[in-house]
Amino acid sequence: MRLNVNGADVEVDDRFGASPLLWVLRDVLGMHGTKYGCGIGYCAACTVLIDGQNTKSCQTPAENAVGKAITTVEGASGPVVDAVREAWYQGNVIQCGYCQGGQTLAATALLEADRSPDDAAVAQWMNGNLCRCGTYSRIRHAIGQAVGTLASGRDPGQLAAAPELEMQPLTPEELADPVHPYVRIGPDGTVVAYSSQLEMGQGIHTALATIVAEELDADYASVRVVNAANGGISGGDVYGNPEAGGFFQLTGASTSTKISWGRYRLAAAQARARLASAAAEAWQVPAEEVDIESGIVRHPSGKRAGFGELAARAGQLPVPDDVRPKDPGQYKLIGREGRLRVDAPGKILGTTRFTIDVTLPRMLTAVVLHPPKFGATAAAVDDSAALAVPGVTAVVRIDEGVAVTGQTFDDAQRGLRALRVDWDEQNAERRSSEELLAEHRRLAVSGEQAVVAREDGDAAAALAAAAHVVDAVYALPYLAHAPMEPNNAACAMGDDGILEVWAGTESPEYTRMAASAAAGIDKDRVRVHVPMAGGSFGLRSSAAKDPTSEAVQVARALDWKYPVKLQSLREEELKSGRYRPMAVHRVRAGADAQGRLTALHQQIAAEPTSPNLPFVADFLFKGGVDYMTTGGAVDGPYTLANFKLETTNVQTGVPIMIWRSIGNSHTEFARESAIDELAIAAGRDPVDLRRDLLAGNPRTLRALELAADRSGWGTPTPEGRARGVACSSFLDSHSAQVTEISLDNRNRVHLEKITFALDCGITVTPDLVRAQVEGGLIYALGAAAWGEIVLGDGGQIITQNFDTYPVMEMQSVPQIEVLLIESAEPPTGVGEVSVPTTAPALTNAIAALTGTRIRRLPITKTIRVA
Ligand code: FES
Ligand code: FES
Repeated sequence: MRLNVNGADVEVDDRFGASPLLWVLRDVLGMHGTKYGCGIGYCAACTVLIDGQNTKSCQTPAENAVGKAITTVEGASGPVVDAVREAWYQGNVIQCGYCQGGQTLAATALLEADRSPDDAAVAQWMNGNLCRCGTYSRIRHAIGQAVGTLASGRDPGQLAAAPELEMQPLTPEELADPVHPYVRIGPDGTVVAYSSQLEMGQGIHTALATIVAEELDADYASVRVVNAANGGISGGDVYGNPEAGGFFQLTGASTSTKISWGRYRLAAAQARARLASAAAEAWQVPAEEVDIESGIVRHPSGKRAGFGELAARAGQLPVPDDVRPKDPGQYKLIGREGRLRVDAPGKILGTTRFTIDVTLPRMLTAVVLHPPKFGATAAAVDDSAALAVPGVTAVVRIDEGVAVTGQTFDDAQRGLRALRVDWDEQNAERRSSEELLAEHRRLAVSGEQAVVAREDGDAAAALAAAAHVVDAVYALPYLAHAPMEPNNAACAMGDDGILEVWAGTESPEYTRMAASAAAGIDKDRVRVHVPMAGGSFGLRSSAAKDPTSEAVQVARALDWKYPVKLQSLREEELKSGRYRPMAVHRVRAGADAQGRLTALHQQIAAEPTSPNLPFVADFLFKGGVDYMTTGGAVDGPYTLANFKLETTNVQTGVPIMIWRSIGNSHTEFARESAIDELAIAAGRDPVDLRRDLLAGNPRTLRALELAADRSGWGTPTPEGRARGVACSSFLDSHSAQVTEISLDNRNRVHLEKITFALDCGITVTPDLVRAQVEGGLIYALGAAAWGEIVLGDGGQIITQNFDTYPVMEMQSVPQIEVLLIESAEPPTGVGEVSVPTTAPALTNAIAALTGTRIRRLPITKTIRVA
């Protein structure tokens, strides 16, 4: 079979004729720019152009493309794609970047056909291209920019990406140095920052490049950033997260910029001081007379040097004791507009390597069939049909299910489909999600087994004395993270007995632990490489029973003869659980005759999350109270004189994991809904009522005032529209959201506008902060509207792919205005902070418009969302 790919003819074995073109491109031809997201035609991550038409390559047998021109992201060229790519880059469109090859090709096909599409045409055309990072608003804007470029006739030039760098292990001397683990200057003058935080779309690499360029007075364009992984927990890890005890590396809880702020500013300032000392030594001048600007070291005598010329000498010098980072008044980059993402070019051009793209000599691809119910195990496996599939090399039982290995993913997947497995369901979770919800509800309402997490004043007495009381139950389902790149891992045992693992992990330490346990070797014999992650939202923080463990078990079963890449099928990823827990809250709220809130009693029933996270559980799960369940309720934004919070840890067989915004994703929905209900019952304006409660929290109050003012709160909405409001203090950031909606003549809710005000301290890269807020809103809107993992009769896992787990698409995205409040405080959380207020602001708006109070998510159980 001969295919024409990017203008070149290539021969492909006929046996791959029926294979999806996606896998022929990726696994046979080694072209990894085209991505897998679902395999069923729902996400368009696999978009290629065939004779100029955007086409889902997962749905196209390779033989159907014979005689046609196939264009992939690696080979697209011409003025239209150049204009699209420039607009993507200049607009800071990308986040994790995993979907963006498909997005840019789809946009290119659109503009090739229509040079001036209107907004509706753009939304309609791009609607099938899913982006879990929520970049839709920026994609729309970028397409508009590309249209303008093409109309002007201006040559946008060609975007270029530097070759990928990989971190080399640090020597003991480098580890002991205060600068080397964080900032390196190469002989060519390139500055490389080793990021302790996984780049998974949140923009930490760009924040670090900004911080390092600022403090080093480097040329921003010369700064590269690489995911780091090095130490173990014993003796401290140079990349340890201080917010998680400091002794192990962890990306999470939106701490990336917060924890990097001090560490990288100081390291870069120290590196700058060394350069100045090196120049002073070389030029025999006082160090105070040496100046550095935009990567050039200078002396008034006229002497000049680039960083590269001084790097070797500087690296040997001691760090002066008195080095301090700059005062904010000196900033030229931090907090300024105009930073473009450092990771954008590779992601736009399809050259960035994600875990799914890792390829090793003789590597086999493994897929795992997980049981249909949580806790079931394989009782009998008939692998005869699977092993007869061409390209299948082995069938291996592992703890999590049954793995099939193949030469390509498609081989392995065909083998998986041919497997016959009898499952032993004796220890399985056999309750449906409705039955589990009923149990959660029973526990939340009764308070059975509840532990008091916080008690201020006397909520019961205040409720008894209240003039207005709301007593309501709010229910939230299991949710999947569903990042666009499924959770994958690769491993290879070296001749030296070192097990190398590649995983876009939020914690290299957890990955090392999982790998060593599965391999039966000491942790010190595991080396972790951290490629870019195609989104995560908490999923890539699991500590065991994840793709790393599965990959290593398979490689071990094959006597370490082959490197193994465990590639998750979307269905199998969703079947392996690690969901946001189901949660039911009973909230009783009381107000006096003047409508002032006097009492709040919140009872939670949910599966605890912290116990699933090593080390973290030690300080987040205490006395039966799981902070990952109570967060947002135990430390909410309001001053409440009479407040009681109780929590019941529900035990089920469903695997639970942190999910974007953790407990706040449900605790704040319940509280903000109940406060809204109380305001209505007491005849109060919901913003006014919250103002009373925020007197002791001026930063959140300011956010509320700003969001209310800019959204037009208090002024009449256009006919047929209404607004809802919600507030949050989360991850030391402070926010308020106003959501405006309308209803169409088919009784469907339309999302019109979101106004989001945020105080997150100093914003290192303001445009990327806005992008994270936009992404969080879109992620949370999708979850609120449609998100639900369903377990059917007997506990059968029903929800397995985007066909049954709908997520936000472009056509539903409202206008979004993000208002950043200027602050001199250190940076705080951003990536998750727009999630908790999204569902309640929306349901509060629905109540205001329709009178229907939605107390159970997703919203579409009650009313459709357009
Ligand atoms: S549509 Fe092809 S991978 Fe999702
Ligand atoms: S940028 Fe689209 S999925 Fe991450």
